[in-house]
Amino acid sequence: MEFHVITLFPEMFAALGAGVIGRAQASGSITICAHNLREHGLGNYRQVDDTPYGGGSGMVMRPEPLAAAIDEVMAQHPALQRILMSPQGEPLNQGLVRELARNRPGLLLIAGRYEGVDARISAMVDREVSIGDYVLSGGELPAMVLIEAVTRLLPCVLGNPESLAEESFGLSGLLEYPHFTRPEEFRGMRVPEVLLSGDHRRIRVWREAEARKLTAQRRPHLLAVPGKS
Ligand code: ADE
Repeated sequence: MEFHVITLFPEMFAALGAGVIGRAQASGSITICAHNLREHGLGNYRQVDDTPYGGGSGMVMRPEPLAAAIDEVMAQHPALQRILMSPQGEPLNQGLVRELARNRPGLLLIAGRYEGVDARISAMVDREVSIGDYVLSGGELPAMVLIEAVTRLLPCVLGNPESLAEESFGLSGLLEYPHFTRPEEFRGMRVPEVLLSGDHRRIRVWREAEARKLTAQRRPHLLAVPGKS
C-alpha cells in the first residue's frame, strides 16, 4: 500500500523508519513518500500562507501551492484517495481505519499547518479526517497516526492475526481485557486466580466479562451501538 503525504516538514516522516512501520517499509508492504509543499510555494520566498480575509490572528495556507502539490502527486498516482488531515474532519476510529486499509493503491494525506488551510481545498479532497477533538499545530502527527493505524492492519505486517481480533476495538468493538505477565505478585497485587487456572473456557469467559466491564466504565458509547467500533 502506498502512502503519499504533502507536508512542509517531510523530514518528520523519517520517524516512521522505526518499529512495525519501519519493518513494513523494509519488507515492501508499504511505501511512504513525503512531498515537500515548499517546492510549490509562491514567489522568491516560496510563500505558502497568508493573512486571513476578514481579519483575525494567525496565517492561513494559500490554496494554490496545495492544489499544485495535489495535482502533481495525482498526475503520477491517479487512484489515490485524497485525505485532508483537519480538526474539522470525521473522527478517526478503528472502523474508519479498517475502511482506509482496504484502499488500493493507497492514500494521499495532506498535512496543513498554521491556523488552517483555505476552505476551497476541501473541494479538492475526497474526505477530511481528524484524530481527535484537540488542535495540533500541524497535520503531520495526525498523518503519522493514520499511517500507523492503517499499516498494522495490512496482511503480513503484524505476525499474529489473532492479536488483531483480540485487541481493543477488534472484532468485538470493545476495549481489550486487562493483561498480566510474571511475577504472580507485584507490590502486593496478585494476578487474578482464573488466569493461573489453566481452564481456557473460564479464562475466555472472564476476559469477555472484563472487556465488557471496562468498556462500560470508560467508553459506554461503544456498548450503545452493537457491532459498531
Ligand atoms: N491538524 C491539527 N489538529 C488536527 C487533528 N486533531 N486531527 C487532524 N488534523 C489536525
